[in-house]
Amino acid sequence: MAELLQQLILDTLDAQLTLPDTRALKIPGQSSPASSHDAQITILGALNSLLSREMITYETHEVSSHVLTPEGVQIVREGSHEARVWAALPERGSAPLGVQDLKRAVGDEAAKVGQGRAFKSGWIAKEGNGFVKAVPNITDTTQIELREVESSGTLAAGEKALSELRKRKLIIQRKGQWFTVNKGSNFSTSIAKPETDLTVDMLTSGSWKKSTFKKYNFDADGIPTSGGALHPILKVRDEIRNIFLEMGFEEMPTGTFVESAFWCFDALFVPQLHPARELQDTFYLSDPSTSLCPPSGYYERVSRVHEHGGYGSIGYRTPWSHEESEKLLLRTHTTASSAAMLYKLAAKCRGQDIDGDISAKSRAADPSDDGFRPAKLFSIDRVFRNETMDATHLAEFHQVEGVVADRNLTLADLIGFMRTFFRKMGMKNLRFKPAYNPYTEPSLEIFAWHPLLEKWVEIGNSGMFRPEMLAPMGFPPDVRVHGWGIGLERPTMIRYGVNNIRTLVGHKTSIENVENSPAVMF
Ligand code: PHE
Repeated sequence: MAELLQQLILDTLDAQLTLPDTRALKIPGQSSPASSHDAQITILGALNSLLSREMITYETHEVSSHVLTPEGVQIVREGSHEARVWAALPERGSAPLGVQDLKRAVGDEAAKVGQGRAFKSGWIAKEGNGFVKAVPNITDTTQIELREVESSGTLAAGEKALSELRKRKLIIQRKGQWFTVNKGSNFSTSIAKPETDLTVDMLTSGSWKKSTFKKYNFDADGIPTSGGALHPILKVRDEIRNIFLEMGFEEMPTGTFVESAFWCFDALFVPQLHPARELQDTFYLSDPSTSLCPPSGYYERVSRVHEHGGYGSIGYRTPWSHEESEKLLLRTHTTASSAAMLYKLAAKCRGQDIDGDISAKSRAADPSDDGFRPAKLFSIDRVFRNETMDATHLAEFHQVEGVVADRNLTLADLIGFMRTFFRKMGMKNLRFKPAYNPYTEPSLEIFAWHPLLEKWVEIGNSGMFRPEMLAPMGFPPDVRVHGWGIGLERPTMIRYGVNNIRTLVGHKTSIENVENSPAVMF
């Protein structure tokens, strides 16, 4: 149809040199009248296509035209309410029609509105309890006028009559356009489809010389590129990793999803009877179910501090179980990796000759140097907990953890570090609440002000690692280590306005959302 219309425009121009008013065009295959809004939109499409090939030029004229409301359309089809009332009534002299019967004949709405208007025009008369026709025939001006508006968008009778119909909500005003068309520099009556590609064939045959090429449309949207996309959690992970790196932290190796209970709990001075270690909270491996032994001297010191105490502590005073310690499990926190890293860091300290597995070569030349080197370590990796899954909990998730080891660190250092770190993540308002962790004392829960939820939300947990954990590793007594951990999923959900974790992680994740998720901006 589009081509037929283009052809019609070209033929008209060919015959009469100019097309002064597109409202006069009879569009092939279009049922609405040529002057209608829809018809002019169709014409505009054809004109633009011809214009792009410079076959025509055109000018736009703005007009205000009118279209019928659904009620107006009904009147064109069935007549005005007053005309239908008149038509339903008997001639004068016959038995009059009662109100109920009239309603039944033309419907409640038409009976109500039509009756008043028919009276006013003197078309009907009251007789007894009913109505009769007062005149033998009528002219339904409303219907006639609406027909005219339908086909021409206006009324020859002028603005007064139009505004009357508008007031009755039978028509509405609409801005419209029509066009004056003239021949363009490439005018011809044959629409050759423009070429979109210059091919080898065209070059060898020379046919390109006579071809018309489609113009570049620099305004067109490009084709969306498809390719790999980072999951929102990975984007937030990168952001957080960058914050750590710019603060001088080093990333810990955290590939060990499977850990021994020794590194996940015992090394952290978590009592062997702690409820978090039970089956309902922790996933244990059945095959293999036990780990290799940790370095023997260290293992010895850890078991002793649990059972009998030491380093100023009275310990838990419960029997030590080797079986409990060697169980293999899916790590419940990345602090298991932090413990292993801290153990390695402590092993470098002079004079400790930790467990025979470090040699004298790590000892410093300066006798006042005990070999300890401050460290800032972080990790972002997966952990597993035997949780009941719901909108905000999964059985596997990611933890972000930052650990700092230095001499004489205080709680103020920990708080200062967290304030700096979380400010970089866009969380300026923080609060800390005393909490309990078996491996830290004091311990602090971290709360951040959530500007959208307008409340404080818990984001993580922190503290100063206990001497019962650090001393068996071999750290000099003045070395303090503090750390904190937060989940990665919660900040990602807040960042991307996701309120159900399962739309972010798992089989219900929509690839489209992942592809379209914007970059994070902490
Ligand atoms: N391991 C703690 C948790 O799982 C976080 C933490 C890390 C706390 C380091 C204190 C120090 O919530």
